[in-house]
Amino acid sequence: MTGAAMNDTLTKAAVLILLGPPGAGKGTQARMLEETFGLVQLSTGDLLRAAVAAGTEAGLAAKSVMEAGGLVSDEIVLAILKDRMAEPDTARGVILDGFPRTPGQAEALDALLAEQGLAISAAISMEVDDAAMVARVSGRYTCAQCGEGYHDSFKQPAVAGCCDKCGGTAFKRRADDNAETVGARLTAYHASTAPLIAYYETRGVLRTVDGMGAIDAIAAELGAIVGQVTA
Ligand code: AP5
Repeated sequence: MTGAAMNDTLTKAAVLILLGPPGAGKGTQARMLEETFGLVQLSTGDLLRAAVAAGTEAGLAAKSVMEAGGLVSDEIVLAILKDRMAEPDTARGVILDGFPRTPGQAEALDALLAEQGLAISAAISMEVDDAAMVARVSGRYTCAQCGEGYHDSFKQPAVAGCCDKCGGTAFKRRADDNAETVGARLTAYHASTAPLIAYYETRGVLRTVDGMGAIDAIAAELGAIVGQVTA
């Protein structure tokens, strides 16, 4: 679906949550949904990495936790998420990528949305095999200019060394994308985030997709869900 014309059929603001362990494809799919539906991807990982790079107080507190593969405190994450949700470009709808990650964050999100007269459209669990995630994450890299994601084996640029999207020629890798840290991130996911699957099932908004298929096939499935829940 990359490059498709923006779908203008949304009739209400969408609030989508992508749930899944590191490497499940949350960021890959969120960027595709953003392009197709005009929604805004809100990645707490990206917001935290920006805070680390900027050397803010929150960034300084988050840096070592992220490098170790642990979870940054709810207090810090909620503060940066609330600030970003207050920006006007989120009015059409958001894709929450990597948030919420704890029951406390899920409850705080419910309260924040209620204040704004919004509700969760769908919480989509991307189901994957943990064993395959280490290879996915270890081979990941992104365009340094536009952030488009690639993989050494699974998604290479059409022209080697040149970003498909913006033509950039510089690429970067994340400090926490190594086998050791991915193990800690998977442990944190199962301990703190996986319980949210039951939380959203109880609220009747849970959807699941098989995250082990091809990127385009998963994108088509997610696009169909977005179409259904926002009609
Ligand atoms: P974050 O940045 O959110 O990382 P993550 O959850 O570990 O997820 P990833 O970005 O690693 O994976 P992804 O699912 O987006 O996969 P992607 O699409 O890139 O968080 C980083 C850290 O920040 C955390 O560890 C924590 O410390 C902190 N943090 C963030 N949010 C927090 C919160 N709410 N609370 C507390 N702390 C928080 O895909 C991976 C690779 O696989 C890519 O190369 C891609 O091309 C490839 N790929 C994708 N889909 C497929 C497919 N279907 N088949 C083959 N390859 C594929």
